[in-house]
Amino acid sequence: MALGTEDLSARLEQYRADYKRLLDEGLSLDLTRGKPSAAQLDLANPLLGLPGEDGFRTADGTDARNYGGLQGLPELRAIWGPLLGVPADQLITGGNSSLAVMHDCVVNALLNGTTDGPRWVDAPSVAFLCPVPGYDRHFGICERFGIEMIPVPLNDDGPDLATVRELAAGDARIKGMWCVPKYSNPTGISYSDEVVRGLASMPTAAPDFRLFWDNAYGLHHHGETRAEIADVLALATEAGSPDRPLLFASTSKITLAGSGVSFFGGSPANVEWLLAHLQKRTIGPDKVNELRHARFLPDADAVRAHMDEHAAILRPKFDAVHEILTERLGDSGVGSWTRPDGGYFISLDVLDGCASRVVALAKDAGVALTPAGATHPYGNDPADRTIRISPSFPPIDELTAATRALATCVLLAAAEKLTAR
Ligand SMILES: Cc1ncc(COP(=O)(O)O)c(C=O)c1O
Repeated sequence: MALGTEDLSARLEQYRADYKRLLDEGLSLDLTRGKPSAAQLDLANPLLGLPGEDGFRTADGTDARNYGGLQGLPELRAIWGPLLGVPADQLITGGNSSLAVMHDCVVNALLNGTTDGPRWVDAPSVAFLCPVPGYDRHFGICERFGIEMIPVPLNDDGPDLATVRELAAGDARIKGMWCVPKYSNPTGISYSDEVVRGLASMPTAAPDFRLFWDNAYGLHHHGETRAEIADVLALATEAGSPDRPLLFASTSKITLAGSGVSFFGGSPANVEWLLAHLQKRTIGPDKVNELRHARFLPDADAVRAHMDEHAAILRPKFDAVHEILTERLGDSGVGSWTRPDGGYFISLDVLDGCASRVVALAKDAGVALTPAGATHPYGNDPADRTIRISPSFPPIDELTAATRALATCVLLAAAEKLTAR
């Protein structure tokens, strides 16, 4: 039965009492961090003993300890190219953070222009399309450089194509779009083939429009249901816009979040473009780390088997959150949440106008949640509805305690709102 029925005030009292008990528990829990847990990081411990007895020579005899090799180790690119859907010679491997590569691509486009357009900074204004809910650090890059963010709805099969098409075709200020095409942050949805094709081929008023294709969770399935997304590079090339997609990924949530390898993929012209800029920035990447990665996960099967081990740790956590929310909120009508087949996040929608209240109640009860609004540009969720849950980091007992507490806060905030009418 949905809240809002005649016994609502009785329920409000009950939720207040539940919340009071929660306060008395003196919790100190954290659901904010989309980080791998220590158990997941332990899976990559053997990496730290490499390159090992086989030494520092790469496949072509290069000493990995020395300078050079700007594009990254060929053997590493040969392993990861097919996994990421990028030809190995169109892949660049680099430092641990793909976010840093995204940041640099934006800065390079602003200051130097793209392969097919002038410096963005010379345009009267620059805007990006931002599917919402989305990833706050993408929005942070735009905000940092004064790029206007235009929210577009994210549906279950990807960004709303009709809206995106209309905006991109009609507004030459729109130079880019953030996309997390698989197991998106935070809803966990994956883009349908139709959406990928649409984005790759749609007419855009800006000839130098770029899809910032952040495939952060491309290999991060939780179980047997495995999303596959269409080949955006091939589709864009087929549509005559080979330079449109810039692909990003990393091993942050595969090996070590602070010591992994990042990937950039794109058309040959985009690879040349980024290498030309990289050349001014560095003499070469950390090839010792790249060699470690190539030896630790020497082929695609090894990567997949490693990801299965992550899934075995992550899946029970995602199941636990789903079960608790179902048990506590299931029939109340005051919350709905996603149940992703992969990735790192669950997105919880509460009654309109209640997300900030839920986050504040949880904070006072010792449960840290990602700030309400973080899933939207400028931290502004106009409906004040969406809360991002990150189940990966806490041990399962802490996760379940935090999720129960969260449910209590959702119910109390909803009852407060409905009785205030
Ligand atoms: C969508 C998305 N992209 C990128 C990142 C960060 O990637 P990296 O560790 O490679 O910088 C995250 C981390 O949470 C993410 O959720």
